[in-house]
Amino acid sequence: TLLSLLATVAAYLIGSLSFAVIFSKLMGLADPRSYGSGNPGATNVLRSGNKAAAILTLVFDALKGYLPVLAVLIWGERYGLGEGTAALVGLGAFLGHLWPAFFKFKGGKGVATAAGVLFALNPLLGVATLATWAILVFFTRLVSLGSIVAALFAPLYQALIWDMGPIVGAAGLMGLLLVWRHEANIKRLFAGTESRLGAKK
Ligand code: G3P
Repeated sequence: TLLSLLATVAAYLIGSLSFAVIFSKLMGLADPRSYGSGNPGATNVLRSGNKAAAILTLVFDALKGYLPVLAVLIWGERYGLGEGTAALVGLGAFLGHLWPAFFKFKGGKGVATAAGVLFALNPLLGVATLATWAILVFFTRLVSLGSIVAALFAPLYQALIWDMGPIVGAAGLMGLLLVWRHEANIKRLFAGTESRLGAKK
């Protein structure tokens, strides 16, 4: 419907707020696109050494996926919007993060935003996916590896533990795009040169 399309476009614009760039600028830090992996995301902002900026980036990049989906689930029903629109809106926010309208369409990898979307669509799926990510990151200190594996597991969890439906579609599409955006990380992982959390450099 027209309304779901409008909601998806609105979510895309919200997703286009690149909080790594916004908070770095507000806090007088270097542009995250200029150092480390060059990625406008929480992991790379952490490489600036400013933990507060990294946490703010993580929280707001997740909220921009979480809140639009939650809004559809809470208020959408009276306008005939259901889970399908919620999934579409989540996808919109995620696409905004990857290709932001306000930042020359050069965005991030979508990890925090996808997590926010999953938590809103199915909170237990969010927990299962976050646990997968956390276990991998805890043992390997490789954020990218955790992100890639968790993103691939999310649609499987949804399909196997819950049901086939729009959430599997959204999680699957986000997972594929997220892995694709990690192309440079994957090359570094195979080359053994990927930077580990907490490492100097
Ligand atoms: O947050 C994205 C993460 O999976 C990898 O980030 O900066 O190491 O490419 P980065």
